[in-house]
Amino acid sequence: MKTRSRPWSALLAVMLLGAGVGAVAAEAPIAVTAASFKCMATMTPVRGFYVDNLLKGSLKDTLKVANSAQGGVYPVGSVVQLIPTEVMVKQPPGTNAATKDWQFFELDVSPQGSTIRHEGYTDVINRFGGNCLGCHAAAKPQWDLVCEESHGCAPVPLSRATIEALQRSDARCVPPQKLRPQDIEALKAFPAAPPAAPPTKP
Ligand code: HEC
Repeated sequence: MKTRSRPWSALLAVMLLGAGVGAVAAEAPIAVTAASFKCMATMTPVRGFYVDNLLKGSLKDTLKVANSAQGGVYPVGSVVQLIPTEVMVKQPPGTNAATKDWQFFELDVSPQGSTIRHEGYTDVINRFGGNCLGCHAAAKPQWDLVCEESHGCAPVPLSRATIEALQRSDARCVPPQKLRPQDIEALKAFPAAPPAAPPTKP
């Protein structure tokens, strides 16, 4: 009898341990470092933006919300990007109610990788002085702070051509992505130095 009951208690212990580990992981914010970010071309395109998920096996859950016509709440670990230097990462429920648990990042990117210039929740500003939440908070509730072109946010002062050119000129990509003539033209119209301007000849 004794020997027969042991496997059950071992199984119970594993189950309890598993539940405990799961509960901790669901509450502690994911530690995001510069190394968490990568060349946008390795992420998954959704309409005009790109997504990923920092938690193994969770990309499909991120895609389910990103592709839903009804919107929804992005799952923990979701990474969303429109241009190489601005990122939103979804932290566990309860991390920050004001940002719906999105952590905002303003990056510098180079062939060496990413550097975090600013990160946080309600007070992150981009390189043009705009507060991330200030704009993204206007997205209608079902879109979980994701603006796109039609969710209610003030527009970004970038044409579609410039956005695509910035995406294709992500300096972290090895080998670099090929810039099309229209990308080079669009980058010229970029109001400030783009994060990864193609080399210019003096
Ligand atoms: C001027 C308002 C404004 C500011 C400031 C702003 N955004 Fe956005 N953001 C937008 C709009 C509008 C879009 C959608 C643009 C499009 O698809 O044409 C967008 C797109 C994005 C996307 C792609 C998903 C989506 O919402 O469509 C991410 C990620 C993002 N911004 C992150 C940031 C981060 C991080 C900051 C701060 C460092 C920031 N944004 C600052 C307005 C803003």
